Amino acid sequence: MARTRARPTLPLLLALVAAVIPGPGGAQVSIQLNEAILPRGASLRVNCSSSCSEGLSLGLETQWSKVELERGHNWKLFELSDIEEDSNLMCFGNCGTVQSSASATIILYSFPERVELDPLPAWQQVGEILTLRCLVDGGAPRSQLSVVFLQGEEELHQEKVGVNSTNPKEITTTVLASRDNHGANFSCRTELDLRPQGLEVFLNVSEARQLRTFDLPGTSPKLNSPDLLEVGTRQKVFCYLEGLFPASEAQLHLELGGHILTSNSTNHGDLVSATAEVDVPAELEGTQPLRCVLELADQNRQAEKTLHIYSFSAPVLTLSPPEVSEGSQVTVKCETHGGAQEVRLSGAPPGPPSPQVSFTLNASADDHKRTFFCSAALKVAGQQLLKNQTQELRVLYGPRLDERDCPGNWTWPEGSQQTLKCKARGNPSPKLTCSRKANDAPLPTGVVMTVTREMSGIYVCQATSSRGNVTKEVSLTVRVISGPHINWVILVITLLIVLFVGLAIYLYNRQRKIRIYKLQRAQEETMKLKAQAPPP
Ligand SMILES: *[C@@H]1O[C@H](CO)[C@@H](O)[C@H](O)[C@H]1NC(C)=O
Ligand SMILES: *[C@@H]1O[C@H](CO)[C@@H](O)[C@H](O)[C@H]1NC(C)=O
Ligand SMILES: *[C@@H]1O[C@H](CO)[C@@H](O)[C@H](O)[C@H]1NC(C)=O
Ligand SMILES: *[C@@H]1O[C@H](CO)[C@@H](O)[C@H](O)[C@H]1NC(C)=O
Ligand SMILES: *[C@@H]1O[C@H](CO)[C@@H](O)[C@H](O)[C@H]1NC(C)=O
Ligand SMILES: *[C@@H]1O[C@H](CO)[C@@H](O)[C@H](O)[C@H]1NC(C)=O
Ligand SMILES: *[C@@H]1O[C@H](CO)[C@@H](O)[C@H](O)[C@H]1NC(C)=O
Ligand SMILES: *[C@@H]1O[C@H](CO)[C@@H](O)[C@H](O)[C@H]1NC(C)=O
Repeated sequence: MARTRARPTLPLLLALVAAVIPGPGGAQVSIQLNEAILPRGASLRVNCSSSCSEGLSLGLETQWSKVELERGHNWKLFELSDIEEDSNLMCFGNCGTVQSSASATIILYSFPERVELDPLPAWQQVGEILTLRCLVDGGAPRSQLSVVFLQGEEELHQEKVGVNSTNPKEITTTVLASRDNHGANFSCRTELDLRPQGLEVFLNVSEARQLRTFDLPGTSPKLNSPDLLEVGTRQKVFCYLEGLFPASEAQLHLELGGHILTSNSTNHGDLVSATAEVDVPAELEGTQPLRCVLELADQNRQAEKTLHIYSFSAPVLTLSPPEVSEGSQVTVKCETHGGAQEVRLSGAPPGPPSPQVSFTLNASADDHKRTFFCSAALKVAGQQLLKNQTQELRVLYGPRLDERDCPGNWTWPEGSQQTLKCKARGNPSPKLTCSRKANDAPLPTGVVMTVTREMSGIYVCQATSSRGNVTKEVSLTVRVISGPHINWVILVITLLIVLFVGLAIYLYNRQRKIRIYKLQRAQEETMKLKAQAPPP
């Protein structure tokens, strides 16, 4: 749009553009225009005047319709209208017999009727050259008309339309497409520069066109999934591609056997990825193509791989009956149910591979809790897949008191801490009691106790279950090694002490008797002396 508008008719007469041709004899005709340049279709006032003083006739020669507006004695004012193109005007005057004339050129200007930027390609590859074309229809004078290409507000290129240019005129420029150009608005603008004519620059802008650029690597997307898919399982399939622009506009989808999988697409930076969770359907059993298709702009990239979809169920292992009495027969049977070609059954006699194997056995107590293992094998795409099942046999048998579980001879030192280990086997598990053979005194089993001399003896252990009872004698010997040894030492020590004490007493008594004797002797001596002496 124009920044300024054409001003209405100037009241002021502009300087003469006319070339004034002086007539002979000094009688000059002159021409004055109120505008040197004017918009197409406008009207113009022209004043033809002469310096002739008498016998003057004035006229204006023009192709445009004219009206005489006013006249003076040596001038005439005309108005021209509907002026369509640049042209020459000529005033002529006859002064007596002398003819003279003056001419002027009128220049018309017009705004382009159409300024249009050619449509841009829907998508432009980054790194390639984009040509922008601007079509300018009309506009005059063309020598003063130029075209400016714009990206947003930024001027990219300016070019003159050219004097003798065709109408419409196409002006082009090129741009190297980059990621930064994505979303940019391009337009072109005409500039009609009428400043030399005292007017201004008139602008007309085309409608903006938005550019979309893209970048796509030559590589195909990366597909990530298991090669073998089992019917009925849920599997994850993943696909991604890096180096895309604009990643947010890329479409990524996954197809399995021609069906589009519902996937979750995400983009991060210049990476796009899609993840799908597949509930592998039975209809797709066999080999199926898995495809990942990436679409960006008008391009696409694909990756494909072949998946093997199989159904495979575990073998069925049966024990009939699952619970038997000792000595009865049990049939162990394993068979495949779909898919697998062969089964292997633990404990079965060797034989050729077959989809069903069975054998019978005499259940013994040792078979209680024995597990049978059966595995089925399926070959898919050169890979062997195995599935297995196990079953446990239960055998009902009477109580057992083996030497292994309940040793019959125990020898313990007196005073030590001991545990009598005795366990009965059997299914159902038997109840065990041990008691002294002689007096039925109970002997606890499986607990820690202090061994006393009285514990030694013969015990009877009895295991009882609904399937019968068994008994076993257990002899317990208590070793009394340190007893007599200690007694001897005590005896000797006691004797030594008694001896020593006796000796001590004897020695003391003897010493006392000697002293008493000496005292008596001394008394007797003094008595004797007193008796001998004369009384005073
Ligand atoms: C061109 O611009 C002028 C003013 O500068 C305006 O009057 C005219 O209508 C415009 N032309 C078109 C085709 O938009
Ligand atoms: C036409 O030009 C003459 C001579 O310059 C002048 O005297 C006259 O006033 C002009 N007429 C008008 C209407 O301007
Ligand atoms: C434009 O064309 C005219 C004749 O058609 C010629 O005289 C003139 O030199 C040309 N001008 C240019 C700038 O080419
Ligand atoms: C281009 O124009 C559109 C529509 O007018 C606008 O939404 C978008 O933001 C513009 N782009 C730029 C880069 O200014
Ligand atoms: C199974 O036990 C029964 C008797 O208990 C015996 O007759 C039979 O021969 C045994 N079978 C096998 C295969 O050992
Ligand atoms: C048997 O199958 C189970 C799963 O069903 C598996 O965990 C186990 O490892 C398999 N055992 C063998 C020996 O293959
Ligand atoms: C236990 O010991 C006695 C004699 O020491 C022996 O006769 C008996 O055979 C032993 N019993 C076992 C079950 O070892
Ligand atoms: C142990 O079994 C015998 C028969 O073998 C039976 O006579 C006795 O009553 C049983 N004792 C117990 C305590 O069940």
